[in-house]
Amino acid sequence: MRGFKSLFGLIFKASPFLFLLFACYPSHKQSTFDPQGPVAQGQAELFYLIFWVATAVFIIVVGFMLYILVRYRKKEGDVDPPQIHGNTKLEIALTILPIILLAIVAVPTIKETFANANSPDPNSLTVEAIGHQWWWEFTYPHPNGSGDRIVTANEMRIPSDTVVNLELRSQNVLHSFWIPKLAGKVDVVPGNTNKMWIKANKGAEGIYLGQCAEFCGVAHALMKFRVVVETPEEFNNWLLEQDADGFNSADPLAAKGREIFEGSGQCYSCHTVKGLKKARGKKGPNLTHLASRSHIGSAIMENNQENLRDWIKDPDKIKPGNIMSKEGLIYTQDELALTDGQIAALVAYLQSLK
Ligand code: CUA
Repeated sequence: MRGFKSLFGLIFKASPFLFLLFACYPSHKQSTFDPQGPVAQGQAELFYLIFWVATAVFIIVVGFMLYILVRYRKKEGDVDPPQIHGNTKLEIALTILPIILLAIVAVPTIKETFANANSPDPNSLTVEAIGHQWWWEFTYPHPNGSGDRIVTANEMRIPSDTVVNLELRSQNVLHSFWIPKLAGKVDVVPGNTNKMWIKANKGAEGIYLGQCAEFCGVAHALMKFRVVVETPEEFNNWLLEQDADGFNSADPLAAKGREIFEGSGQCYSCHTVKGLKKARGKKGPNLTHLASRSHIGSAIMENNQENLRDWIKDPDKIKPGNIMSKEGLIYTQDELALTDGQIAALVAYLQSLK
């Protein structure tokens, strides 16, 4: 009993701080209480409506219960009250009242569901998001209108004040695509294309965090991504840059790294670098413009020399269970393991891929 009491006391004392655990404050990078576009805005408004209706029901029901507990508690000399069964009027009222409350909640919920499902501009920019274990691939229509798509990974760029239609696909298992400040989750299902749309408000240019929200294996929590919202001009420039071939640096260390990439490192068999003949692999992220991304490893660490080195050296330590450590011959066959010098050259090459 005493243990229970002290535990209860601790929870009670900590209760004002408990909300901090739930990312409930708007300034949190993954808070849903700071919507930056119409989809997230509509969903937040719906949440508030349901929250306040539920809070009113809770206060009324619990208030009545407490009042009756106190008012009619057993007193000295009380005899049993008359026993009754049923009250038609009360029962009708208690049936109609919840129906009205549910209708108040249901009408805007259905409206919001349809608004989320139907893009206001189906012909606007369409970005394909593909869930892998455990990273995100994004493809864009070519600005010149050809059928080619521009492929990138883990950092989705979108123009502000523009409807962006998303086609969600999975290459393996169930994932869920979630950018808390822009839109609620939509499942990413193998063998099926789910659609959603997002829009970032004008003036909401910046970086937003995204996260896979469906358990998809051991590194699920490390399956993040970033959404960079830019002005439409900046976005168009970026898209044109992404179309260019991978930079062919004249720096001797980077050139050596490129040789390893296309040779003994066998990076080419899983990664694409546009412009490199052999590098057409599709298993891993497209690295053509890796250096233009702020983060690596599915947005889990900053894209810098030290982190790139650590990642290539032992990816399993950073993202347990990833395919690169399981299948890359430089990790599975001791005689093919890269030396620190070779890794430094590879890092120099990857950093030249602006
Ligand atoms: Cu993908 Cu969790």
